[in-house]
Amino acid sequence: MRFGIKTLDEYDVKGKTVLCRVDINQPVDKATDTLKSINRIRGCVPTIRELSDKGAKVVLMAHQGSDIEYKNFYTTRPHAKVLQELLERPVQFIDDVCGPAAREAIKNLKEGEILLLDNVRFQSEEQTLFEMKLKLSHEDQAKTQVVTKLAPLGDLYVCDAFAAAHRDQPTLCGFEQVLPSAMGRLFEAEYCAVSKVMENPEHPCVFVLGGAKISDAFLMMETVLSRGIADKVLTGGLVANILLAAAGEEIGEGSLAFIRKSNYEDWIEKIKPLYEKYKDQIVLPKDLAYVENGERKEAKVGEIPAAAGLVDIGHEAVAEYQKIISEAKTVCVNGPMGIFEEAITEYGTKGVWDALAGTEAYTLIGGGDSVTATEKYNLKDKMSYICTAGGALIRFLSGEELPVVKALRHAAKTFD
Ligand code: 3PG
Repeated sequence: MRFGIKTLDEYDVKGKTVLCRVDINQPVDKATDTLKSINRIRGCVPTIRELSDKGAKVVLMAHQGSDIEYKNFYTTRPHAKVLQELLERPVQFIDDVCGPAAREAIKNLKEGEILLLDNVRFQSEEQTLFEMKLKLSHEDQAKTQVVTKLAPLGDLYVCDAFAAAHRDQPTLCGFEQVLPSAMGRLFEAEYCAVSKVMENPEHPCVFVLGGAKISDAFLMMETVLSRGIADKVLTGGLVANILLAAAGEEIGEGSLAFIRKSNYEDWIEKIKPLYEKYKDQIVLPKDLAYVENGERKEAKVGEIPAAAGLVDIGHEAVAEYQKIISEAKTVCVNGPMGIFEEAITEYGTKGVWDALAGTEAYTLIGGGDSVTATEKYNLKDKMSYICTAGGALIRFLSGEELPVVKALRHAAKTFD
């Protein structure tokens, strides 16, 4: 048992039907109908392989999201193919979630066999809009279709979906009410890695927060500063631009237009008290980059042209951030410094990522864009831990007990 949750070590799974919830939600290229990354699919391979090797009948449940929440109409069929290649053993797929076809396929499984069910969000009760609107308790989630139809076929529920642990949905929190449950190996590893940063970070502990997900970044910033977890927070991307505007600095009309278009304008006022309180620890870039006539230009804060649209941090900021990172013992990263996808605007992200790769500090990288940047610069082996979670990591680092953690703890207390 770890963190009040049972692990796979506590169960003999031979001959047992294991209902295993994984997070293999990947960006989909709609034009070619293919998965843009297989990072998360790779992440849950150890758990699936272990269960299959130990003779379990493995039933995989997973969601595949899309950019618009209620349009989760993408099948998990391609994921089964990728899993099969990674596991080097057959992975069956059934285009059903909990109907008669799925149940029949589960009953027919033999020891060691693996079956992936279709996108669980084809069930409306599994959708995030349903979750937000109805806020079902975990007891009520156990009464939903998916749990009442599938749980009687299972002996054990395993959750390996740390990346979805912030979602309060039946395949994540309902089975723990009615079946003995454990976390999978990826869940365990990710929980350990993020707890290390939350509970006992070696100091100096530096957070690097960038990207465009403002509310997540500010929520996290407040928690890590108020709890004394972070000694310094280095900022980039839209996070830095909003803080600069809150500090009364010119950030250029282009940046302001983007902030307005994204409906983030209120944040400029809202974030002022946090910035005032932690001014000495929140590091803003001293210079920034913008593009003019197709060329990269940089200007110091205070000299940003009124028409500019900021796209990256500048050379002076990169040098300062590199120095701070080199003196840190723990660095936690969420979000790039600018538009790293394009050559003329990637300098800041590349420079910071090089410093992360070069430091002896414990480096934790989380969030889709940060992982993509790490892959782009071929630095995966140089980071201490790359978390598959984005939203869940932020919620965890914001101090919340994640719904899935709560449900797994409940199961640990309820079942032998
Ligand atoms: C994620 O990508 O953060 C998880 O897979 C959860 O996906 P969702 O935001 O579609 O619930």
